[in-house]
Amino acid sequence: MAKILYCKEIAETIKQEIKQNTEKLIAEKGIRPGLAILLVGNDPGSKAYVNSKERTCKELGFHSLIRREEENFSEEEVIKLVKTWNEDDSIHGILVQLPLPKHINERKVIETILPRKDVDGFHPENVGRLVIGLDSFVPCTPAGIIELIRREKIETKGKHVVVAGRSNIVGKPIANLLLQKKENANAIVTICHTAAKDLKQYTRQADILIAAMGAPELIDSDYLKDDVVIIDVGYNRVEDKKEAKGYRIAGDVHFEDAKAKAAAITPVPGGVGLMTIAMLMLNTLKAAAGEIQF
Ligand code: GUN
Repeated sequence: MAKILYCKEIAETIKQEIKQNTEKLIAEKGIRPGLAILLVGNDPGSKAYVNSKERTCKELGFHSLIRREEENFSEEEVIKLVKTWNEDDSIHGILVQLPLPKHINERKVIETILPRKDVDGFHPENVGRLVIGLDSFVPCTPAGIIELIRREKIETKGKHVVVAGRSNIVGKPIANLLLQKKENANAIVTICHTAAKDLKQYTRQADILIAAMGAPELIDSDYLKDDVVIIDVGYNRVEDKKEAKGYRIAGDVHFEDAKAKAAAITPVPGGVGLMTIAMLMLNTLKAAAGEIQF
């Protein structure tokens, strides 16, 4: 039976560390980390994420600036706002919540953010730096996975990590991070995705499986090798009439079925999602302290 890798305690510990270092930065240098967030539209998931990011800023003593705009907010207005934040010395991190409405070009917006304020790590300069192993902002969910691996002492050197999913936010960056010749990495990495004729053929080879496809409970025990370590990045709303809200949150892994076969597994909710916000705060603190050398 698998060890369940609850992330609440680890995320709380990281946040306490950030809070202490924030107080130190304020006392010694007079710099309070500032995070600006733009939310466009009414997607319920995005709204909940932004609320949670705002709450965490308050909790850690950060300066936060949250702009919530209607669906019809234009691309020009988004670009103009980002440029204002680029110039604002009280703002160290800029986050534009994705996905953006269809009339706004996401790439154009991301490329407007100054790389040194790009706490999401989505700007091509940060992406490129990550791939070649230079200091960079690392996207928050992959950074959280590495931090979980480090704190839980999960062996990665020479292990076969299979990443299911190829998004720019999770799949590609986590594969690149685990490939690096470094502590808590140095793995043999396979990326598989929806074009695979037989996904199981790949996932069954995994010593460590990172599920990041956005397909609710797709991975069951049939996809797994004995004693695999499973990191479930999925966060899906699935209809459930038994729940008061009419839905429940499910990962990409069928938790109950998988846990009998795995050595360890992260739950959803209560798993890596909690690490993501902690890493966003850490990136903002690093931006404020000028820790990433460009
Ligand atoms: N939407 C889903 N995940 C993320 C994230 O990590 N950053 C941003 N900006 N938007 C997201």
